[in-house]
Amino acid sequence: MSVPAELAIAGPRPLRGKIRVPGDKGISHRALLFAAMAEGRSRIVGLAGGGDVARTRLLLRDVGVHLTSAGSAVTVNGHGVESLTEAGHVLDCGNSGTTMRTAAGLLAGRPFLSVLAGDASLMQRPMARVVEPLRAMGARVDARAGGTLPPLVVRGGDLVGVSLETPVASAQVKTALVLAGLQARGTTEITEPARSRDHTERMLQALGAPVSVDGCTLRVSAGAPTPFELDVPGDPSSAAFWVAGAAITPGSDIEVVGVSCNPTRLAFVDVLRRMGASIDVEITGEHLGEPVGDIRVVASALHGTDIAGDEIPLVQDELPVLAVAAAFADGVTTISDAGELRVKESDRIATVEALLGAIGVGVESAPDALVVRGGRPQPARLSSHDDHRIAMAAAIAANAIEGESLIGGWEATAVSYPDFGDDLAMLTGHV
Ligand code: S3P
Repeated sequence: MSVPAELAIAGPRPLRGKIRVPGDKGISHRALLFAAMAEGRSRIVGLAGGGDVARTRLLLRDVGVHLTSAGSAVTVNGHGVESLTEAGHVLDCGNSGTTMRTAAGLLAGRPFLSVLAGDASLMQRPMARVVEPLRAMGARVDARAGGTLPPLVVRGGDLVGVSLETPVASAQVKTALVLAGLQARGTTEITEPARSRDHTERMLQALGAPVSVDGCTLRVSAGAPTPFELDVPGDPSSAAFWVAGAAITPGSDIEVVGVSCNPTRLAFVDVLRRMGASIDVEITGEHLGEPVGDIRVVASALHGTDIAGDEIPLVQDELPVLAVAAAFADGVTTISDAGELRVKESDRIATVEALLGAIGVGVESAPDALVVRGGRPQPARLSSHDDHRIAMAAAIAANAIEGESLIGGWEATAVSYPDFGDDLAMLTGHV
């Protein structure tokens, strides 16, 4: 499906109806990686269709994993990590930090050379957070700029379990170290400064891999997941655009069905409820340790709130659209302790500030913070800054503003939600 380079949106248009969002991106990456490590056939249905997950799929194919796809179903014939082979060329991770960091952990245990690179944005993202702990486990890993920036050069081999404290709460880093730990002698202990999303530990435990959790500490010993069948639930970070959009656009009433309701992914619902949003979550089932459910939202008047501390790692990907919600709320919203936003697909403190400034909302930034003064946003010419979540946050803002806005760089949405524009047209009755 081709995505236009520019999207014009004339608001305000209430969002109404039922929607199913693409499969969760984080669960999709992990499902592919775990299936590749298992011995036997796994079948994954509803894999996220965007460019990021495609990168993980291609990378695994390049290191010798047998995958076949039919529609949205992928079958992986896993032969265990021992069967992985050297690619013989650079592994292109595109825009996907999750692909690069988790693959570094997987390949750190393999006795061959892997070189991981990506697009202009990924080549500027911090990698010391995986390079240093993987070195501590015995892998030879190098990177540009003193081991801090891609490309990553991994010459894997014998790994030993060690105790590691990660400097940031990052599920990508945690996952990389778990994948290395499953290939290491002894026990690997990983302690995070705060809780990050926990798909890796939930899914691996459901698949019988030797992973245990004690607060912010994970223990992993040598082993592998069993093969599995998985229907990937919808991505809560994609759902968040519709949930926030319906909350701020008068007359909206939507239901997002079949979404992952993993508690480490739904903190954005708590934030929006704190702002006065009317949101109901109903859990309908569970897949591989992951609760799944439906989220219903009806528009309501919002007011400002404070988002800080341990809540930040749990709403990281939703902060751009939460900032948009804050722009339509009464009063001031502060987002603090959010320095990690600076090293996402774009510098999201700067790009959110530019977005809100363009629509005429009072906004101030600090190195790790944003302050948003809710107001009366005006139509504007906006840019995605080549960041999928900025593009979608801009669309949600434009849809709630009276008048026509234009979003340039719309093709950025292809990395996580290629059909976002079509789904927006469907929910606003503009098909
Ligand atoms: C992800 C973890 C988060 C998130 C990213 C996906 C994952 O990144 O922002 O979009 O799938 O593990 P960090 O690990 O950098 O926090």
